[in-house]
Amino acid sequence: MLLRKLFILLLPGILWGGITSSFLLLYLQANVLTQVADINSGHQLLCYEMPMKNKVQPTQKEITMREDDFIVSKTDLKGRLTYANKIFVEFSGFTQTEILNKQHNIVRHPDMPRAIFHLLWSTIQAGKEFNGYVKNMSKDGSFYWVFANVTPSYDNNKNIIGYYSVRRKASQQALSVIEPLYQEMLTAEANAGTKNAIEASTSILMAKAEQQGDGYDQFVLSL
Ligand SMILES: Cc1cc2nc3c(=O)[nH]c(=O)nc-3n(C[C@H](O)[C@H](O)[C@H](O)COP(=O)(O)O)c2cc1C
Repeated sequence: MLLRKLFILLLPGILWGGITSSFLLLYLQANVLTQVADINSGHQLLCYEMPMKNKVQPTQKEITMREDDFIVSKTDLKGRLTYANKIFVEFSGFTQTEILNKQHNIVRHPDMPRAIFHLLWSTIQAGKEFNGYVKNMSKDGSFYWVFANVTPSYDNNKNIIGYYSVRRKASQQALSVIEPLYQEMLTAEANAGTKNAIEASTSILMAKAEQQGDGYDQFVLSL
């Protein structure tokens, strides 16, 4: 009699415990399965982890700028595109609507060392002009090399109100120096880890610049 009463008293607890642990098991199973699916499809995992970045997979297809092409863009202070000319639209593969108000990293190629963009931003934010070689990526994953000039734009009170960039075709002669240099910088960034990447890569760039010229500007302008 006592045992029966005890059983009736405990029954709701036993049932509730059973239900919650079943749900817990189902949840754990689903989670493990999702992770396995993500590991099997590396591309999806990459897209999931970098929702703000370009999700395009790079290809080996190169599109070359014509001798008289100029790729022009303007950004706000945060690097969001406020203007892109027709040639920019053509090479990027995006439409004007897809480009405007997006971050300029919409055309970023993964072969570009982070140190170059770090130098670009610190130079223009200091009110100076940046010159450099950039490998960009189109919407379909193909790439195009440019020689970029980036400058700050000012209002009447000499406040920086945005940035402006004009790019022309990069010469093969310059790329024969730049490509192996960027490859070396990229490897150094990967080996140094996130925290020390820029420093490691910048010291390679500056060593090369000193060896071939008198500082970075003279080096890139001499190629
Ligand atoms: C005016 C201007 C032009 C730029 N042009 C390019 C460009 O052609 N390609 C590019 O990858 N980044 C360009 N950037 C730099 C991007 O804003 C960004 O720093 C870079 O793509 C790296 O992106 P991430 O820091 O998200 O990796 C430009 C920035 C400014 C202000």
